[in-house]
Amino acid sequence: MTQDELKTLVGQAALQYVVPGDIVGVGTGSTVNKFIDALASMKDQIKGAVSSSVISTERLKAIGIPVFDANEVGELSVYIDGADEIDGAGCMIKGGGAALTREKIVAAQARRFVCIADESKLVQVLGQFPLPVEVIPMATRRITRQFEAMGGTVTLRLKDGVPLVTDNGQHILDVRGLQIRDPLAFESEVNQWPGVVTVGVFAHQRAQICLLGTASGVRVLNYAA
Ligand code: 5RP
Repeated sequence: MTQDELKTLVGQAALQYVVPGDIVGVGTGSTVNKFIDALASMKDQIKGAVSSSVISTERLKAIGIPVFDANEVGELSVYIDGADEIDGAGCMIKGGGAALTREKIVAAQARRFVCIADESKLVQVLGQFPLPVEVIPMATRRITRQFEAMGGTVTLRLKDGVPLVTDNGQHILDVRGLQIRDPLAFESEVNQWPGVVTVGVFAHQRAQICLLGTASGVRVLNYAA
């Protein structure tokens, strides 16, 4: 199976975690796009969605699913999103699609995070994938030096030759060369550096379930305590 077919497989498998009558939290990325496509078949059974990005909002609306502001709704039963890496405890690196801040907000609003990913995303230690960090532009230099002191190499993410601007009007740093052996402690530390909006380690908002697309089908990894 191709990587694209594996993404389709897990996108469809995620439908069984959507609670009829509820509002579902929806992430961002190519795997989530497969989930949104599959969700079209259930659109009359759900109230709508809370979305983690402008791009997912547009895709949801295009298939007729109402999108609510996060402030308009209470706790969500489930948040479904992809990952750039996921480890054996359900901790993830996210933000390859620059949507990490809103992803973390919607994940925090949900009782359960169901991660959908192809098997290439499963790792022993987080950090092979460059770590995305959303930052306030005036703090870029200092935050870069702080990551360099940890052994990281930092690049400012560009789009069409200019700094990428997120849905929140901020910039993204991608940090290579880190081995994140204690994701919870790492996330807590970096989060409190002035100017960091969101670090792309999801340990406080880790997944409870991962639907992993493999050549032999969907493997369910259950991380719930
Ligand atoms: C976007 C994300 C995505 O979930 C992550 O990048 C995985 O994307 P894809 O499903 O396209 O591989 O965090 O900010």
